[in-house]
Amino acid sequence: MTETRELEGGVAIVTGGSRGIGLAVSAALAQAGAAVAIVARDAERAAGAVTGLPGDGHAAYSCDVADPVACKKTVAAVESAQGAVSILVNNAGITRDNILLRLRDDDWADVIGTNLGGAFNMIRVVARRMMKRRAGSIVNITSVVGLMGNAGQANYAASKAGLHGLTKSVAKELASRNIRCNAVAPGFITTDMTAGLADSVVEDLRERIPLARFGEPEDVAGVVRFLAGPEARYITGQILTVDGGMAM
Ligand code: NAI
Repeated sequence: MTETRELEGGVAIVTGGSRGIGLAVSAALAQAGAAVAIVARDAERAAGAVTGLPGDGHAAYSCDVADPVACKKTVAAVESAQGAVSILVNNAGITRDNILLRLRDDDWADVIGTNLGGAFNMIRVVARRMMKRRAGSIVNITSVVGLMGNAGQANYAASKAGLHGLTKSVAKELASRNIRCNAVAPGFITTDMTAGLADSVVEDLRERIPLARFGEPEDVAGVVRFLAGPEARYITGQILTVDGGMAM
């Protein structure tokens, strides 16, 4: 683990930060010195996650990112309690997998509304504040399936591909205000989201990964820390895959 505290004095919002990749990202940003705001639907779980983070000044907020009004209230609450938000990590995401002809209207709407709409809702509110301060870094957690597509995940892949377009557009629009926006596209990572995969599917997937293993949440978190921080100051509008070489 890196020993520097390059994010000291910063405030980082991590959506869906109470478990899986989001929790590892929260821990990595806290380790780097940021005060972390974990934003998640389950208030109790988010509060529990905060107690395990290194350092002080972290807090939990209950918010459904698909709700634009809730996002606005949450960001205002973060800024009044913890200070100016300098980092936003849009990590909250869901799957509602099914083959195309069996996807229901709400499978489509929920996944697009949370994964793509949630990031838009948070970026719109946070960017307004970052623009006034002429500083900020936004990292969207997408997926390699947003680049490659995936049978049985048309809704999810579309939401993640949409995030790639959002990332590049925000990067172009806000660069002149010194706000960077990048995406991290993980491959298969060991979390609750992939816990339900059958052993045969896991074995099949592993054979397609050059590094021959699923990633760990910490493999993603270190890259988010890098993109969020000063070492990445000349990087914007990029999609960095963290997938053991699967998508190359
Ligand atoms: P997870 O299911 O363990 O955690 C997702 C988090 O998002 C949870 O804390 C959940 O409460 C939160 N969340 C979901 N809907 C929300 C909403 N409407 N408002 C607020 N919070 C909400 O999933 P995991 O694996 O940690 O995934 C995190 C991100 O990484 C997701 O965007 C996912 O699509 C992405 N990803 C995951 C991969 C994997 O293999 N696990 C691969 C590629 C991308």
